[in-house]
Amino acid sequence: MTGGNLASIQVAEQDYFAINPAPTSLQSHLTIAREFITRHAEGGRNVVLVTSGGTTVPLENQTVRYIDNFSAGTRGACSAEYFLEAGYAVIFLHRQFSLLPYSRHYSHNTRSFLDYMGEEDGKVVVEDEHQEDMLRVLRSYTAAKKKNQLLILSFVTITEYLWELREVAKLMRPLGPRAIFYLAAAVSDFFVPKDQMVEHKIQSSEAFSKRLDDPNAKAPAARTDGSKLVIDLEPVPKFLKQLVDGWAPDAMIVSFKLETDPKILINKARYSLEKYQHHLVIGNLLTTRKWEVVFVTAGGERWVRVPPRRRTKSVSGVASLIGKSEEKDGDSSTDDDQA
Ligand code: PMT
Repeated sequence: MTGGNLASIQVAEQDYFAINPAPTSLQSHLTIAREFITRHAEGGRNVVLVTSGGTTVPLENQTVRYIDNFSAGTRGACSAEYFLEAGYAVIFLHRQFSLLPYSRHYSHNTRSFLDYMGEEDGKVVVEDEHQEDMLRVLRSYTAAKKKNQLLILSFVTITEYLWELREVAKLMRPLGPRAIFYLAAAVSDFFVPKDQMVEHKIQSSEAFSKRLDDPNAKAPAARTDGSKLVIDLEPVPKFLKQLVDGWAPDAMIVSFKLETDPKILINKARYSLEKYQHHLVIGNLLTTRKWEVVFVTAGGERWVRVPPRRRTKSVSGVASLIGKSEEKDGDSSTDDDQA
């Protein structure tokens, strides 16, 4: 990367954070994150920041409408469980109300968590058929909780995500290579800058849509034009470069690449690895992400697949595969951990 390129990325970053203010919860999140990181650094634990879920792009300042990015949070939540089991302290930066480690086994599906329960002698009990699974999940959850190994932070918008990522990364910087960034969140590539956003709900009816008093004034980025909704989106600066070079230069950085066209997945993952110069890109396709991923490193690529006979339930456990060197088509996930 040339000095000119680096300088322009830094300017784009400065502009982004100058125009799009920090979320109000940032300082309180950083206070608990600082304490969490310090405690685990002193205790000799490695710390991983797992990002999970999709970021939104609000179209109005008082937001009614927004553009969303696809992600249920399965990959991130499941991977976080594996990191916890492997002894890492996990900062789980997730989209509010997306899947969470452990509770994901009993949420966000058509079955209510109450369906796992029954009544016995006036007390709530878990149905017999769920005892074994729930006990296993509960034990893992309790063990992580006892060791204070899991810190849960949340975001909704792309701006909240970027502020949290940047500031938590800076707090993790002293950890050097004992820090991992595992970027499974689905992050917006385009957004509406704060200074181009309308304050109130965009009106669909022409009779109520506000005309600009000054015909020379710049139209807001999202607006109605006649009966059409028009949205001009700006590119979100590619923060991955800044993370690698500036915010967390000594950490291990794992990013994900989501595509829908199998023909371009590997090339796009390779391109990302070469461009950002980090450690690993995990490629996945929308339709097959729950049972196959491809690990792309400077040394080449390797597919990791859950065998067909185990593709029964839906989940996600790539973290369990890192460092275990499963071979192509390796039988490496548990039934409950596909995705
Ligand atoms: O949650 P699930 O339903 O289980 O789905 C999991 C998943 C498919 C969301 C996950 O496995 C995944 O692929 N996450 C990454 C999705 C994504 O944002 O891919 P992308 O190709 O748009 O971006 C690639 C990388 O570029 C990202 O890791 C991000 O770190 C980086 N990026 C993105 C946007 C941006 N403005 N700057 C960036 O640096």
